[in-house]
Amino acid sequence: MADTITGMRTEHTNLLKLLYVLQRQVEIFAAGANPGFDIMQEILDYNSNFFERVHHSKEESMMAHLGQHLADLDQEIARIRAEHEKISQLTHTLTGTLDDIIIGASMTPRESVVNMIMEYVNLNREHIRHEEQAIFPLALKHLKEQDWLDIEEAVPADDDPLFGKEVKDQYQNLYRSIMDANTGTPH
Ligand SMILES: [Fe+2]
Ligand SMILES: [Fe+2]
Repeated sequence: MADTITGMRTEHTNLLKLLYVLQRQVEIFAAGANPGFDIMQEILDYNSNFFERVHHSKEESMMAHLGQHLADLDQEIARIRAEHEKISQLTHTLTGTLDDIIIGASMTPRESVVNMIMEYVNLNREHIRHEEQAIFPLALKHLKEQDWLDIEEAVPADDDPLFGKEVKDQYQNLYRSIMDANTGTPH
């Protein structure tokens, strides 16, 4: 069922839009001005509460099924899982760092915060690129109808609170920023 992959590709495109907005904000911060910290926090909140929970889980289920069809996939499965874990930890760390900045309690130099956020942006972009180029084509080639049904069942459908039918209240600022940014999606 290629629909699952189509949905995951759309989620990647959406995340690339968010990373673009995040990069614009961090450039403002790097230049010595105050960025939209609320926008940055909404991006991290969305990643943690929706993207990582739903999208990453679906991919890990997909990788497990792929491992049943292909030998020698252990290293690739471990790589994807480790990158998900690293992204998730960075989301958490950055949320704490921005919280500290907002309340004026940050001891982290501005340059270090900028580097951390750019590491986060680049790690996510590279992860997406790898999945699109190396993993999704394998899944489309080797997974059977029953695999896709199992994957969909393993990860319950959850309406996207930002890019779905309705934008939830907590993401309204972010939604406007995405519209203003004219949805640039650099690779
Ligand atoms: Fe992933
Ligand atoms: Fe992904």
